[in-house]
Amino acid sequence: MKIRISILCLLFGSIALAAAYRINVKPAVTNSCVKCHETDPDKINVHLVHHSHDDVGWLKTVDQYFWGLNYTIVNVGVQYIITSVVNALWEHPDRRFIQVETAFFWKWWKSQDDVMRNKFKTLVDNGQLEIINGGWVMNDEACVNYQSTIDQFTWGFRILNDTLGQCGQPTIGWQIDPFGHSREHASILSKIGFDGLFFARLDMNDREQRKKDSNMDFLWKTSANNDDSVIFGSMFGPENIYYPPTGFCFDVLCGDDSIDDDPENDAYNVIDKANLFAENIKSYVKYYKTNHVLITMGGDFQYQAAEINFQNSDRLIKAFENNTEIKLLYSTPSCYLKAVYDVQPALVTKTDDFFPYGSADHTYWAGYFTSRQNFKRFERQSHNILQVAKQLTTIVSKYNSSSKVDVRPIKELREALGVMQHHDAITGTEKQHVARDYTKILARAVAQAEDTFTDYIGKLLGLPNLSSFTKLSSCILANMSICNTTQSSDGFIVFVYNPLAWPVNYTIRLPIDDYSTTVRPASFPIIFDILNPISNFSYVQLDNVHPAKYELNIMALEVPPLGTKVYHVHKVTAKKPYSSNEVVKQAAYLGDDRIGFKIDNDSGLLKSITMNGRTVEITQQFLYYTSHNGTNDTDPSGAYIFRPVAEAIPIVERPYLSSTFGFFVDEVEQKFNDWLTQIIRVHKGSNGTQNYIEFDWLVGPLNVSDGHGIEIITRYTVKDFKNEGTFYTDSNGREMIKRILNYRPTYSYNSSIEPIASNYYPVTSKISILDKQQDLQVSILNDRAQGGSSLNEGEIELMLHRRTLRDDSKGVEEPMNETEFGQGIVARGQHYLVLGPISGTQSDGKTVTAQERTIAQQKLLQPWVGVGDASKIPIGTIDYLISTSYSALKKSLPENINILTLEPWTETTYLLRLEHILEKNEDPNLSSEVTIDLSDLFAHFTITSVVETTLGANKNLESIESKPEWIYGYNEVPKKSSLAGTEVVLAPMDIKTFIVELAN
Ligand SMILES: *[C@@H]1O[C@H](CO)[C@@H](O)[C@H](O)[C@H]1NC(C)=O
Ligand SMILES: [Zn+2]
Repeated sequence: MKIRISILCLLFGSIALAAAYRINVKPAVTNSCVKCHETDPDKINVHLVHHSHDDVGWLKTVDQYFWGLNYTIVNVGVQYIITSVVNALWEHPDRRFIQVETAFFWKWWKSQDDVMRNKFKTLVDNGQLEIINGGWVMNDEACVNYQSTIDQFTWGFRILNDTLGQCGQPTIGWQIDPFGHSREHASILSKIGFDGLFFARLDMNDREQRKKDSNMDFLWKTSANNDDSVIFGSMFGPENIYYPPTGFCFDVLCGDDSIDDDPENDAYNVIDKANLFAENIKSYVKYYKTNHVLITMGGDFQYQAAEINFQNSDRLIKAFENNTEIKLLYSTPSCYLKAVYDVQPALVTKTDDFFPYGSADHTYWAGYFTSRQNFKRFERQSHNILQVAKQLTTIVSKYNSSSKVDVRPIKELREALGVMQHHDAITGTEKQHVARDYTKILARAVAQAEDTFTDYIGKLLGLPNLSSFTKLSSCILANMSICNTTQSSDGFIVFVYNPLAWPVNYTIRLPIDDYSTTVRPASFPIIFDILNPISNFSYVQLDNVHPAKYELNIMALEVPPLGTKVYHVHKVTAKKPYSSNEVVKQAAYLGDDRIGFKIDNDSGLLKSITMNGRTVEITQQFLYYTSHNGTNDTDPSGAYIFRPVAEAIPIVERPYLSSTFGFFVDEVEQKFNDWLTQIIRVHKGSNGTQNYIEFDWLVGPLNVSDGHGIEIITRYTVKDFKNEGTFYTDSNGREMIKRILNYRPTYSYNSSIEPIASNYYPVTSKISILDKQQDLQVSILNDRAQGGSSLNEGEIELMLHRRTLRDDSKGVEEPMNETEFGQGIVARGQHYLVLGPISGTQSDGKTVTAQERTIAQQKLLQPWVGVGDASKIPIGTIDYLISTSYSALKKSLPENINILTLEPWTETTYLLRLEHILEKNEDPNLSSEVTIDLSDLFAHFTITSVVETTLGANKNLESIESKPEWIYGYNEVPKKSSLAGTEVVLAPMDIKTFIVELAN
């Protein structure tokens, strides 16, 4: 207790110092190095865009692609591509090329000498080589969370800035391969100050409609909350996605005939080639509102011998020199956009998104929303750890003046997570050996980051030598009931760090083998339960570990914002059980008056749920789709594609039930069979921040012995519910988008061809249905991306696991059939169900929707839990630790504002982002604007200078008076800094980015 007071004194001490801060205003940065060839207003202008699409892992691993290894799969190496392009541009100032993936650029840059680096930079400076997109990768748009998208762009821009400077800052989005496009992604691009966005893949019906109406260029209103969020969008006209028109793919990987323009040769073909090209162009130009057409001259891993591509383009351009109708030019997406902008055509505006992507009648790219569930979850957990690592590194570096931190671990993890956002990584559409490599890269980076935590947390708690007593690690296998430390040691300490800007209540679940265990500090109400873990893990064969017998639940109450709490778990002699386990013999109610659920006696399934003042009849069951093997072997269900043979078939076995009634948690385990178990769980008592019913599902190994793939779903059905065929899904964890069954807002399509898959949408955090008559809404939140829908009134379904036996012909050339320990992989995860009135606020003062927003943040950025063997820690030190808590914030932020980013940025600066987590009209109080004083955020250090930047942290907003030079397109965002002194105003869904200096 005494020591706690002295820490408080220390905090007040630094607050007193804080009064002396000053604000530096730094100059705005503007830049345009883009140099465009002239166009001809009286001709059709063909903008030839030379590019290479370099997947950051897919058929080969990232490194195999870069270095050119594992060549039998495909004989390509990105290092050769970039070098070859630089050489092909060097003596030819007219030629242009765009460089897209920064992860590869960075590998290349690091491996080159100064001569080559200078050449590259010179080409960028003179506009021949334009950096486009510039994120670490070309990220997926369905399964990613907005925070990861922002992170991966930010780090890409940072590397580009450090290496290439001003001219290396991109202004164009280039999403040519992702399998559908989200509104939130476009919104992020608008907020990082991009002018426009180019892509290739959209639903075939949408495409045909747009071609007919000349709407392949359009404006996208990317936010329902922010009126300034319009961005220019453009889709490619040719049918070959992002490849050149047929006959014009000259790359070594392609093999179309080169152009021969020597009339004395027998093979002289330039006239035929030019005619064919002109014919194509005349049809493409009709798809657009101007006389400009963009033609992609490139493809996957092209330009290893760049001279082949460029010489043929030189000849093709020359062939049109005297053409009266068509002009060909070396161009870039920025030059195309500028040309269109100069014409000022009237463009249609889009307000929804481009999901799902149907490329043929039976080919809906909705399987990848769910493919590789465990990897999708691991990515999310790693993101969580990265944010904790960034915060801890920042806080510790400023904890006192002698603190030294090593920023390499966060750099590694940042880059690893950047890779995971790639459109063949988190999507699950890579080859199996590549998936293993991704997992390895991520696991290694996570371990390195966590290695620093013992030291950091020790320092924050006033115990800088903590790591000489113990080493903290997270029980990353706890979802398999495995954790070395908690199972093997006599006693252990548990550290909880909360990365959110408000206090949270959190249930820590740890596998233990000994029932006679207790937790300190002892308090009232009792804060822990010991429960039987689920029994399905007996198949696990790992060295020296076995699934634990019990699960210890510790209720961590009020873990402070950006702060920690500590518990001590040790054995006791008395074998008094703390919780009772019993088999439910009759329809039972679990929970308390405030929140709970009932199980149906006959079916063993959920019967009703009580929460937020309502009791609603709702059932939940598991079903499976049988994967289609394809008609004549074409169009099967696979890694990308979801194609069920028929409607889902329910799993009818009555589950064996066993219930546990603990002090703060009640749960029932439903064991359906050998491969399907679920725990339904409720947190009781007044700890209302865990205001949901939790569905902890465990699915697998899936049996595919009948030669068909199998795709498991869970379906929640609300009785007598009328949502009128309407449901809502989140866009990358941010704004909700309205979905209507069998309907698309801007084009018509035949929903009877694939009635299920064509109604599937990505759900990265939440899916909701509303019954306005009953004033009732029901939402499911998830812990990683899944495909979902509402196919009948009152239903919500989400896909949990899939195992397919066919390759779906989208290039990966493998079925998605994950195995471990000689059988199909087992997937585990959680859903959180929330229901209540649509209108009005609840007893906690929030609307149900606001409750959901809070839960979503708490699930995305969960407390980091580190356990360490306590046997070497002196008991006095343990006593000290469990009586100490820490928070980096002076006070909690309002519950609608979160600290999205807090990370070391340069030697002297830090990156800080604040976000408003609600949309307009979601809550009468919490949807309002909030003013935050930046000078009053932190407890033991202070912000001494602040510069507001665009979302990607690469362009300063300070002193921008009007639309900056680098925004010459349609994008009006951002206008200027919103800072008034140190005060920042956040409206619903705002994210504000600052580069700050901190001092203690
Ligand atoms: C190369 O690719 C094959 C085919 O997918 C894979 O089985 C193999 O493990 C890869 N080799 C290496 C060294 O990664
Ligand atoms: Zn790709």
